[in-house]
Amino acid sequence: MRAVILLFTALAFAASEVSKFEDCDETRDKAVGPFGSPEFFSEVTNGTTVFSLIPEASAPVPLIAFMHGSTGQYQFYNDSLSLIASHGFAVVFPFVKSPEKDKSPLTTNTDGRYLIKAIQYAKEQNSNQSSIFFNKIDTTKIIIAGHSMGATCSINAANTLRDEGIVLDIAMHPGICGPFGPPPCPSCWKSATLLSVAEAMPVVFTTATNDGAFWPAPHTAEHEYGCFKKSVGDIENKNEVNIKNAAFIQFNAQVCEQDGEREPVVKDGGHNCPMKRIGGGYPEFSAVLTAAKLYGHLDGDQDSQCYEQLYGESGIKFQNITGVLDFRLELE
Ligand SMILES: *[C@@H]1O[C@H](CO)[C@@H](O)[C@H](O)[C@H]1NC(C)=O
Ligand SMILES: *[C@@H]1O[C@H](CO)[C@@H](O)[C@H](O)[C@H]1NC(C)=O
Ligand SMILES: *[C@@H]1O[C@H](CO)[C@@H](O)[C@H](O)[C@H]1NC(C)=O
Ligand SMILES: *[C@@H]1O[C@H](CO)[C@@H](O)[C@H](O)[C@H]1NC(C)=O
Repeated sequence: MRAVILLFTALAFAASEVSKFEDCDETRDKAVGPFGSPEFFSEVTNGTTVFSLIPEASAPVPLIAFMHGSTGQYQFYNDSLSLIASHGFAVVFPFVKSPEKDKSPLTTNTDGRYLIKAIQYAKEQNSNQSSIFFNKIDTTKIIIAGHSMGATCSINAANTLRDEGIVLDIAMHPGICGPFGPPPCPSCWKSATLLSVAEAMPVVFTTATNDGAFWPAPHTAEHEYGCFKKSVGDIENKNEVNIKNAAFIQFNAQVCEQDGEREPVVKDGGHNCPMKRIGGGYPEFSAVLTAAKLYGHLDGDQDSQCYEQLYGESGIKFQNITGVLDFRLELE
């Protein structure tokens, strides 16, 4: 009898924990989520500085490992990452050398090793009773993400860890695939690598038509789209490739226009659209939150609003901002 009661309690507990993760909702997802303000934590682990955001949660939450772009500072991403954490995600944000040295364009990394280190660190500390991470992370639900240089890192790290419980790769403005790049190989990402990642996990690729970082706009987005299609296959031939769901989300110039709101700290148009906020919302990071919730919280549930927002007929309608979804594959 006692065993039955315990089992019943455990099930009820499990059910209530699961229900903590809410489906996507345009209005709700713009505001601070049910997990409130996360705790900020910084630690140097084996020579690598990792910033972390740990939400107040009674059960483990998925982990997002996020890599900044070249010269990127934590400050550029803190608001949007904090918002995402408030919806039930822990975040680790590694630096290549240090928060200060990573401001230099000479500090680069593209193979994803620091993302991998940060994930390793979070997993280790998750079983360290004195750590802020202790039992906070669902190590079967890890998302790898990054912007620009960090997006290239995310593709390469996701490929390295493809058999280790990674549920999603999010590459924001990763630039042009190799061999010529920029940056040229071996610092590039290759379409064969993205295909390998897409065979192992869903991929969300974002860019903007006014991204002029690698080619004059709109050719950066055009070439990124070309690279994406070369990687995951043409939509007409989707049955011939054995990949998970993949989405190419191209924001238009109006959504990603430089509005000066963040200056002089950062320009937030075009290539830096991930840093942009409009009326309290973050157009590109709203796509990140939707995808992270879909695969981190809802196991890719096809009946969810998250799924509808990402792949549905209505396309993305985040934050009442006209996002243009040019390409999507629904395979599952
Ligand atoms: C520490 O970092 C070095 C160089 O990045 C790596 O070779 C080594 O395996 C790491 N050690 C641990 C314990 O993580
Ligand atoms: C990050 O953003 C959150 C929410 O906007 C804010 O409360 C916090 O102070 C910020 N942290 C840093 C280190 O800037
Ligand atoms: C466990 O966490 C504590 C507190 O952060 C830290 O001082 C200690 O070094 C960690 N132990 C290991 C083995 O990482
Ligand atoms: C969406 O934004 C437009 C322009 O700002 C506004 O006119 C419209 O009322 C908004 N729609 C909703 C549903 O919020």
